[in-house]
Amino acid sequence: MTDFTELTNRAREAAARAYAPYSKFQVGCALVTQAGGLFTGCNVENASYGLTICAERNAIFHAVASEGPQMRIASLAVIALGHEFPPCGACRQVIAEFAAPDAPVCFLQNGLLVAQTLAELLPSTFQL
Ligand code: THU
Repeated sequence: MTDFTELTNRAREAAARAYAPYSKFQVGCALVTQAGGLFTGCNVENASYGLTICAERNAIFHAVASEGPQMRIASLAVIALGHEFPPCGACRQVIAEFAAPDAPVCFLQNGLLVAQTLAELLPSTFQL
């Protein structure tokens, strides 16, 4: 699936399942793998705030658990209900672990769906 609108719709559906009683930010992520898999994730918060997992990492870890360590992200979309933001810095670094620099990352900006490459979002990726 390379249709960013469809990917965004899946992310929005995942956001509706978020567990976000503390921030009230319901975030959803959907990604397509190079093997053709579709995976979603939502943020899951915790009373011990630091244990919260973002939607993007939830989706990525779900994809790895299903496809194995060779999983590669072809494209990814992140959506928050009632808010607009690109992936947080921590999630950009985790996306970079599994995606090529030219992989499109989609999010809403001023009501419009934008697709930036991972390299645009995270130009100086940490690598071992
Ligand atoms: N959050 C995400 O799920 N993804 C991001 O990229 C940024 C933040 C979540 C974490 C927390 O549950 C809530 O949004 C507010 O920070």
